[in-house]
Order: sequence, then structure tokens, then C-alpha cells
Amino acid sequence: MLKNIIVSVFLLLFATQMQGQDTPKDFLFANFHKQRREQVREMMPPNCAVVLFANAERNRANDVDYVYHQDPDFYYLTGYKEPNAVLVLFSETQTGVDGVTFNELIYVQERDPKAEQWNGKRLGVAGTKEQLGFEMAFNGSEFSSIPVDFTSFDKVSFFDFKNDYRDKDGKEDLFDLIKTFKMKSNYPADYDAKKQQLYTMITSTSVENSANVAQTLGRYLNYYSDLKEDKLLSGYVNAADESLRDEIKEKVLMVQKSSNLDSSIISEIMSTLRETKTEEEMVLLKKAIEISAVGQIEVMKAMHPNMSETEIQGVHEYVYKKYGAEYEGYPSIVGGGNNGCILHYIENNKTKVGDDLVLMDLGAEYHGYTADVTRTIPANGKFTTAQKQIYDIVYDAQEAGIRASVVGAPFQAPGKASSEVVTNGLLKLGIIKEASEARTYFPHGTSHYLGLDVHDKGTYGPFKPNTVITVEPGIYIPEGSDCDKKWWGIAVRIEDDILITADGPVNLSAMAPRTTAAIEEMMKQPSPLDDFKLPALD
Ligand code: GLY
Ligand code: MN
Ligand code: MN
Repeated sequence: MLKNIIVSVFLLLFATQMQGQDTPKDFLFANFHKQRREQVREMMPPNCAVVLFANAERNRANDVDYVYHQDPDFYYLTGYKEPNAVLVLFSETQTGVDGVTFNELIYVQERDPKAEQWNGKRLGVAGTKEQLGFEMAFNGSEFSSIPVDFTSFDKVSFFDFKNDYRDKDGKEDLFDLIKTFKMKSNYPADYDAKKQQLYTMITSTSVENSANVAQTLGRYLNYYSDLKEDKLLSGYVNAADESLRDEIKEKVLMVQKSSNLDSSIISEIMSTLRETKTEEEMVLLKKAIEISAVGQIEVMKAMHPNMSETEIQGVHEYVYKKYGAEYEGYPSIVGGGNNGCILHYIENNKTKVGDDLVLMDLGAEYHGYTADVTRTIPANGKFTTAQKQIYDIVYDAQEAGIRASVVGAPFQAPGKASSEVVTNGLLKLGIIKEASEARTYFPHGTSHYLGLDVHDKGTYGPFKPNTVITVEPGIYIPEGSDCDKKWWGIAVRIEDDILITADGPVNLSAMAPRTTAAIEEMMKQPSPLDDFKLPALD
């Protein structure tokens, strides 16, 4: 017995480390994912089931799919990296027909030697048990006989479907799993998760706060205008007084009681959990960030005016692969001159960057965790006076934003601090006449959470320790702007990844030079690519 326990603990702790001699050994332990599932269960209301599906496979063209990437929530809770799987968590221990007890079930892709010969190894049920530490793992085809009645729970919480998955041959694909779930949970054909979330806003508010909620709801309805047709939502927004709002709240409660399906509970739990990082996560996130900073350094050394945007992108991405980062966390952005004014510019097809500034916003994804680092550098190694004037405003704005990233401060604090500096700077240079015009040249927010997603999940409440955010102010002055021509085509963004701690903010990407002087100095250094010559092609 004791031997069995020791063996299982060993397997649980080291399972993912044993996947072969010549593969990476530093993935999250199975125990990390298990503990995260425990946390979800602790945060679930009583008599609740949570149902999570693996990400869909998406077709690129003909018989080629896009490279598969697991849904970050699914990965966080399971460590499973394959498609066509479903995880079910229960707030209380369940008893199956044969008396077996469980508080979680996972259904995974079945082993299939032929499919594996073409498309790679599958973990299967045995691998899921041994390597990921699940006790109750089954093939997807068994989901249709899941030993629970979804209609018996007070709440069944799930992320609503985006309807971008398709039926493939074979019984156990995502399409079939979702179809089974819909049938077993009485999923209504017109289920609208957004509407349900807004209903929850109404039912979870007090009478005293109802006017505020009505105002917020009004803004949502302007955004999701098809929801204006819902009489309860529109009625609540337009209600003349508290008592009318209270009446509508009672009606919404009645509607909610008619179905146990919910998309808010799991959403709030995942945002709360993923906002702060554990030590194990920080090891991987720091690695992704350091790799990305090295990419910026190597490009600073290699950069010259004859380089193309694509080639610059390739240097960054080569550095990522060299360190074993599997992916880019998002499509790489490399914009020379005016191209830098397009915030998410990903064509990266200018053939020579010339003497322009080059804005490079890239992040390595290492074992699931992604960095998000931006540097803007002069392709010829020296900032012009105008470029430096804009750069220094953005730099000061970023410094102010980083200083404001402290425990307890509202999420908006870095944005507010950065905006003030950018606005004053643009006024001083005469690029704008009124403070309100600053948004023309600085049209985005300054911060987002960072983790498994580049725009990671979080609550957007006051900052907590062990949260990682970006601080990324920018100034973008496209050709033809209403200001002196000397500023046209200058685009600067500086983005760093900041760990919020009780002792203040820590810049995790500080290794990549950030001041104009430090960038110019780094750009003087030789690069191994100086000698990397390829033959000319016809
Ligand atoms: N790279 C996307 C962003 O900075 O948010
Ligand atoms: Mn960012
Ligand atoms: Mn970025």
C-alpha cells in the first residue's frame, strides 16, 4: 500500500519530466495542474459542475490545419496539449453507478497507431493517467455515457462555444463532444452567454447600487446592440427608479432559475486564478521574457539599413527557437517608419528599413507562457534629433507608468501616469494644441496582464503581488498628420514586462537596452550575423 502511494506520488510529481531523454524537462509538473483544479473546486459554488473543452483545430487550407495550440484555461487545469478533449470538475464528490467516487473526469483522444504515424503521438488514457496524474481518464467516445446528470446541478458552468469548430471523421472529435454536452445539458438553441452574464450583473447587485449597474449595462447594450432587443435588459437600463429595477431583477431571477447553464462562474474563477502567478509559472514566464530580451539585443547588434522587416522578424524568432521556445506568443510586429504607426502591423514586408526607426513588438512563448516586449531602434544606429525627442517622451511616460505599478493601485494607474507625460510632451513640442488631442497620437491603453495569453486573464481590480503586466506607452505620427512634417512617420512604442511585488515593480525585460544612449551603444557591437552570407538567387 505504502509502496503504491510512493509510486503514485513519484509519478504525479515527475510524470511530465519522464517523457523521453531528449525532450525538454522543464514543463509544469502534473501537480501544478492538479493544485489549480483543487483551487477551482474551492471557488465553485455548491452543487456545481464546470465543463471545459480543448481548443478547436482550425483549418488553414485544404488538408492542412493551423499549428494546434491548446486553450490556455484547459492547459492551465490539465497540462493536456492535444485537441478533442473535455474536462469536467465537480464541487462535491460524485458517486458513479458502480459506487466509484470522483470529483473530476477527463475525456481525451483515443490512441490510434495510424493517426499517430501521420500526425504525432497521442497521450491516450494511460498517458493521461500516468503523466498528468488523472485518476478518472477516458476516451472521448465514452463521454456520451458520462455517469452524471448535468440537469441535476444547481449550476453547470462553461465557456460558451464560438462555433468555429467543425465535424471531422471519427466519433470522438470536439464537434461530437460539444454535441453530447449540449444534448445532456438541455442547451437551448438560442443560448446567449453574453446575455446571461448581463443578467447576472443585474441579479448580483444590491438595490442601492442598481443605478450604477443600469448605467454600466447601458454602455454594454450600446456595444452589443443586438441585446437591446431583450426587454428585461433594456427595461432595466431605462427604468425610472429603484423599485422598477427591483421588479425587473425579480423577473430576471425567474428566467435564470429556468436553466442551470452559466458562463460567469468559471470565467470569474479563471480570471482570479490566472491574474497572479505561482513560483512555477514565474520560472517559465521569466524565461520567455529573457529570451525575448536577448532577441532584441541580437537584433540591435545585427541591424542595418538594408535589412528587410521579414529578416528582422526572422532574427528574433531564430533566437526564440535557439532557446527552445516553441512559438511566438502572437504574430510578430516589425514596422519600419510609417509602418510602425499601425499598432498591430504584421505584414512585415518592407524590403529595406533604410534610415527609419524600426518598431519591434515580439514575444517568445516558452512552454505556454508568453513575453511581450517592444523596442524601437534607428536602423542606422543613431537617433535623429526629432526621433530622440519623441522617443524620450515615450521613455519618460513608460518610467512614470512603471513607477505607478504598485500593489493596491488601480489597474488604470500606469495608463493614467503615462498619458499625462505623453500629453505634456506633445503639447511642449507643439504637436498638439489641446490635451484632448493626445489620443490621436497615443490611441491605446498602457497595460494588460501577461501569462499564458499575451493579453492574459485577470480581474482588472487593484494590483496584487505576483501579477505580471506590460507597461507600453507609444506615440505614432502617421504621414499626413496635422503637425509639422518633421514628425511624420515617427512611431515609437517601448514595452516592458513588469512583475508587481510588495517591494515595488520589477522590470523583467530590463536586459534589453531602453534608453537612446544604451540602444546606440548596443548597436555598435558586432553581430555573429555580420558574417552570415547566403548565395544570391536568380
Ligand atoms: N503585442 C501586443 C500588445 O502589445 O499588446
Ligand atoms: Mn502588450
Ligand atoms: Mn506588444
